[in-house]
Amino acid sequence: MEVVGEVFGKSEIEEFEFIARGKVGKSDYVIVNHEGEKVLAQVMEMYINHSGRTLGRARVIGFVREEVLQLPRRPIRIGSKVYKAPKNTVIKTLKLNLDYKKGLFYGFLEKAEKVPIYLDVNKFVTRHVAVLAQSGAGKSYDVGVLIEELMEKDVPTVIIDPHGEYGSMKFPNDNEDEIKMMEMFGIEPKGYAEKIWELAPNLEIAPNADEKLTLRGYNLSLTEILGIMPFKLSGGQIGIIVDALKDLKGKYTLEDLRNKILESKNNLKYEILPIFEELIESGIFSKKPIPLNEIVKVGRATIINLRGITSWLQEVIVTRLLSELFNARIRGKIPPLFLILEEAHNFIPANKQALSSDIIKTIAGEGRKFGFGLCVVSQRPSKIDEDVLSQCGTKIIKRITNKTDLEAILASVEGLEPTFLDEIARLPPQQALVAGVITEVPLFVHVRIRRSKHGGATPNVLEEIAKIKKKF
Ligand SMILES: Nc1ncnc2c1ncn2[C@@H]1O[C@H](COP(=O)(O)OP(=O)(O)O)[C@@H](O)[C@H]1O
Ligand SMILES: [Mg+2]
Repeated sequence: MEVVGEVFGKSEIEEFEFIARGKVGKSDYVIVNHEGEKVLAQVMEMYINHSGRTLGRARVIGFVREEVLQLPRRPIRIGSKVYKAPKNTVIKTLKLNLDYKKGLFYGFLEKAEKVPIYLDVNKFVTRHVAVLAQSGAGKSYDVGVLIEELMEKDVPTVIIDPHGEYGSMKFPNDNEDEIKMMEMFGIEPKGYAEKIWELAPNLEIAPNADEKLTLRGYNLSLTEILGIMPFKLSGGQIGIIVDALKDLKGKYTLEDLRNKILESKNNLKYEILPIFEELIESGIFSKKPIPLNEIVKVGRATIINLRGITSWLQEVIVTRLLSELFNARIRGKIPPLFLILEEAHNFIPANKQALSSDIIKTIAGEGRKFGFGLCVVSQRPSKIDEDVLSQCGTKIIKRITNKTDLEAILASVEGLEPTFLDEIARLPPQQALVAGVITEVPLFVHVRIRRSKHGGATPNVLEEIAKIKKKF
């Protein structure tokens, strides 16, 4: 084994410093012989001290005895030799699954050469996921990687896409720089047009969508109706709806309900009529909605493109769609599924009740029993409901520098030590930290390139302006 250093200076159970000798760098995995075991550690930092020596700081991961990953009982001895960790020791100690059939190929273990990371599909889908990183850090890119893998495995997936950025996955990646890097991951450009079905409530704003999204609009119960109102109705206002429903006797559309409310002699009706007008106008609710077993189907990823839709109607759609899907899933009418919620802080905010809060909390709490997986994606972890965040068994974290958000992450990820926060603040776009039920210890992953086209690229303002100038 190649010696790359010697323990020196400070040594604690969970961390040691060493003098670097030979080829060793940040993120490398190393081992030391200690208490009769080969103890694995990862280099977190390299620096040069005042006397010009190159030093490293390594985080102790531990060793596996009787199938259990353990930390040594005493600090590593000063003077112990530090070796470059053989690939097999890394794989064994981190208990990495190398069976592609069971896993989603997310990338390579950072710095361990060509050790693929296959996230266990079953754990990933059923135990819920949170993808957290600041804006532009690569959340949507990575979620795209994971959707590609879910499609390869035919897992039914539904994507709530407020910015309309996932439809581009129908097309192969055409970014030349990225195509050059594909070989290293053993992949090729690929479009997923055959597996993706894109629905949008407004086809004028989303002309590339395949079909108009419609939801069940007949016989909505009083609770269902009250659950989508943009403000809390007064007793009098509710009374008008109750009376109208009584008259309609169980078979009605929203138009029927609106017409009944119009007949009311109570002037409070004018306070609620505009709401019904807007719901009808949106065309979201229909007598013949898109069947739920078309939205959730083996071998299909359905994108719900909400681009350009007002935040209230976005909430209405998410609330109604998720409620319908959860009910259908409980009754076994649709297969197990994975639901991805982009901009999750808008749909399940912290310290505030959104229309969709209840149903999302229900799915986070009970989805696992029914094979209804949830993935929340957000740039503001501190602004997502804490309970929902802690229900997410797997955390995928990319670069975050905001202190409040880092604290929210520390609070919601078991086994994540404060020392990781500095690392999270420094992550480059192609790197992610994966933690939680999916892995024995938090792992830094070099995320693979996308096979399909990424739609969320930051616009180039100068190019856009130049284009507009040309037109005139
Ligand atoms: N794994 C990656 N490999 C290469 N480039 C990436 C990766 N992740 C992100 N990027 C780059 O970062 C940019 C922003 O990513 P994006 O996913 O849109 O950010 P976010 O959704 O967090 O705002 C992308 O356009 C892409 O070029
Ligand atoms: Mg994004």
